[in-house]
Amino acid sequence: MAGHIAIVGAGLVGGGWTIVFARAGEQVRVFDAARGVRDDFLAVVSQQLDDLKAYDLVDDPAAILARITVCDSLGEAVTGARFIQESVLEEIPVKQQISAAIGPLLDDGAIVGSSTSGIPGSAFTEDVTNRERFLVTHPVNPPYLVPVVEVVPAPWTDPGAVDGAMALMAEVGQSPVLVRREIEGFILNRLQGVLLREAWDLFEAGYASAEDIDKTVSEGLGLRWSFMGPFETIDLNAPGGVADYAERLGPLYHAIQKSRTDPRQWSPELIAKVDDERRQALAMGGLAGRRNWRDRRLMALAAHKAEQDSQ
Ligand SMILES: NC(=O)c1ccc[n+]([C@@H]2O[C@H](COP(=O)([O-])OP(=O)(O)OC[C@H]3O[C@@H](n4cnc5c(N)ncnc54)[C@H](O)[C@@H]3O)[C@@H](O)[C@H]2O)c1
Repeated sequence: MAGHIAIVGAGLVGGGWTIVFARAGEQVRVFDAARGVRDDFLAVVSQQLDDLKAYDLVDDPAAILARITVCDSLGEAVTGARFIQESVLEEIPVKQQISAAIGPLLDDGAIVGSSTSGIPGSAFTEDVTNRERFLVTHPVNPPYLVPVVEVVPAPWTDPGAVDGAMALMAEVGQSPVLVRREIEGFILNRLQGVLLREAWDLFEAGYASAEDIDKTVSEGLGLRWSFMGPFETIDLNAPGGVADYAERLGPLYHAIQKSRTDPRQWSPELIAKVDDERRQALAMGGLAGRRNWRDRRLMALAAHKAEQDSQ
């Protein structure tokens, strides 16, 4: 199907999506409700493209930039698009309002993906025109460095729209994952939620510092996780594969699960303690610089993975 890609909501995530699509050769039309965001948009993207160029992750930043048009209205961005990526604020009424505005503008066959981090699409697309063409396409930040995208249909999403979104994401170099039916938090944030639950609980009970809990991931589990998931990890960690692993260590994991039967909110006192430790390690003023450092590490990792995959 012909047509461009529309980005609606051009903050952190909308900007990242713009790079994903324009880098893949697509014409991209961008709309944000905030004038200031629209005015600064191309300068922000240009800086990110220069950083990517430094790691050989893009060839020609100027050519990519030339494929991006910032629009002054929603209609200008969405009309004629074959795919619309919505990335407005994570609030149901805001998502409802923008989905209702996009629905009547859709060309035949156009698909709308929402970047929502964990709200099922059915919470904001039920009464929308063309609701069978809406689904969730949840990225990880920044999507041009972290390729996974969770594709999550609502109960009324047309299977053709699911196939179309999966195919487009693969075409533009992302790694789509199909979440067959809706669940709060989808897969990624549910996995992260389990890990965070343990991290907060272990810290609260004084078993280790926040730094040492972080190090267990950055110097341990996380090294494998950049190229294999939990099932493949355990499949390789017992001589007889996953079934052997389950026989040897299943009882341990069952005991751990039984010890966590009381879900609790993170208390303000607990948050303050972790915050104290983090702010001693990294003052508030250093957060932006450290985010840049993280993105450069991710770029180096993406370049390494691209090189390994091509061998
Ligand atoms: N930040 C992350 O790490 C991350 C990761 C994955 C998904 N997401 C999801 O992506 C979405 C956007 O998050 P973000 O971090 O980019 O937020 P953000 O605040 O940086 O950007 C949101 C943008 O939406 C614009 N906006 C609000 N209402 C609008 C409207 N009606 N029409 C057009 N533009 C509108 C705002 O002006 C703002 O620029 C959220 O649903 C969020 O949960 C965020």
